[in-house]
Amino acid sequence: MSGSAAKIKVPRGTFDVLGEDAAARAAVESRARALLEGAGYERIETPAFEATELFARGVGASTDIVQKEMYTFADASQRSLTLRPEGTAPVCRAYVEHGMHKRRQPVKLWYLSSFFRHERAQAGRYRQFWQVGAEALGSEDPAVDAESIALLAHLLGDLGVAPVRLRLSSLGSPAARAEYREQLQRHLRAHEDRLSQDVRARIDLNPLRAFDSDHPATRAVLESAPLLRDFLVAEDAAHFAEVRAMLDAAGVPYELDPTLVRGLDYYTRTVFEFTSEKLGAQSGVGGGGRYDGLVEQLAGPPTPGMGWAAGIERILLAGPAAPPAAVAPDLFVAFEAVTEARHAPRVAFVLLAEARAAGLTAQMELAGRSLKGQLSHANALGARYVAILDPDGAAALKDMAAGDQRTLPADAVVHAVLRAQHAL
Ligand code: HAM
Repeated sequence: MSGSAAKIKVPRGTFDVLGEDAAARAAVESRARALLEGAGYERIETPAFEATELFARGVGASTDIVQKEMYTFADASQRSLTLRPEGTAPVCRAYVEHGMHKRRQPVKLWYLSSFFRHERAQAGRYRQFWQVGAEALGSEDPAVDAESIALLAHLLGDLGVAPVRLRLSSLGSPAARAEYREQLQRHLRAHEDRLSQDVRARIDLNPLRAFDSDHPATRAVLESAPLLRDFLVAEDAAHFAEVRAMLDAAGVPYELDPTLVRGLDYYTRTVFEFTSEKLGAQSGVGGGGRYDGLVEQLAGPPTPGMGWAAGIERILLAGPAAPPAAVAPDLFVAFEAVTEARHAPRVAFVLLAEARAAGLTAQMELAGRSLKGQLSHANALGARYVAILDPDGAAALKDMAAGDQRTLPADAVVHAVLRAQHAL
C-alpha cells in the first residue's frame, strides 16, 4: 500500500464518539429512558431524512433553519429530501401517517436521535448533533405543558446539569401574534435607522427575531417595543396562568421572559428554554413549547401538541466533569503464553462464554501480552477476579481486591466467582 495517501478527517462540525464520551452518552440515554418511559412516553424512531416539504411547511419558511441550515439534496429520482434538522415535525408527520389520533390521547412519544443543521461550527454547536426529545400530542390541558417542562427540569437535575435557568413565556394564539407582529413592525420601522442591518432586513419576514439581537442600538429600540404578553386573549392568558400555577405548586423555578424567541415557527401559547452559563455563547441546553396548529398544518386532524428537545452534547458540556466509569469485568481470563498452538486461547474462550452465560461481565486476553502484562491490563480494567489458565486445564483464580489466589479446575471458575460474589 502506498504511504502517500492523505488522511481523511471527519467533516467540519461533526465528531466521532469514543470511549468515555460514549459511556457518558449512554448514561444520559438510560436516565432519559427511565424517566420518560416511567411517565408513559413511548420511544419513536423516524427516518434520518424526510421530504423537504415537511420541514418547509412544518418548521416555517422564514426560519434560519429552513432558509440556510438544511442539508437538502435530490435523490436519484429527483425527489427533494432533507436530513432532519429537528424532531417535532417528523413526530407530527408520523402521528398523522399512522392515524395516532385514534389512540387514547394524549399520545406521548420520546426520541433520542441525531439531527443535522448547517450552522457555524463552534464549541456546543455542531452540524450533526444529538437531541433527546419528548412530545405529547392530543391534549391542550395546561397540565401537559407543566408536566412536560417539569420532566425536562427533572432530567437535567438528575444528570447534574446545574445551575440552569428556565425562561418561560406564552406566544398566545396565531391571531394575537399576527396583531402583535404588526404593532412590533410599526415600532421597528419607526426606529429603522437605529437597527442593525440584520434586524432591518427581517422586519417584514420575522420581526420577533429582533429580540435575539445583541446589537446595542437595536436593544435600546426594543426597550420601548410592545410586548406580546399584552396581546394575549383571555383564554391564552388563563392557560398560561394555569401552567405557571402548576409549576409553582411543583416547585419548578422559572423566570418570565416576554422576549423569549424560539427559532421555529410552529409554536403557540407556552414556550420555554433552559439555559446554562457553563455553556457560554451557545447557552441553550433544551427548550420547547406548545404547537397546537402543527398537526393540522401537516394535513392531520386539528390536534394540540406540546414538547421539548435537549441537546446531548450541551447536557454533557454543562454537566459534571467526571464521566461515568466504564463497566469493570467481574472476570478477566488470562493464560500463559501459547504453548501448543491455540490451545490456551480456546480454553479461555470457552470459559469466557460460560461466564457470560452465567450473567457475569467478562473479558479475555486478546493481544498476546505476557502474563505480567495481562495482570496489569486486568488491573487497569478494574477486573474483580482474574483466572490464569495453565496448559493442564487448571486455573489460578486471583481475587484482585484481596490479592489472594487459589487453584481449581478451569471448569469450576465460573461457579467459584458466582459463589464469592454471593458471599460479598
Ligand atoms: P431547538 O431549540 O432548535 O428546538 O433545539 C433544541 C436543543 O437542541 C437546543 O436547546 C440545543 O441544546 C440543541 N441544539 C440545537 N442545535 C444544535 C447544534 N447545532 N449543535 C448542538 N446542539 C444543538 C427544537 O429542535 C425543537 N424541535 C424542540 C421542540 C420539541 N419543541 C417542541 N417539541
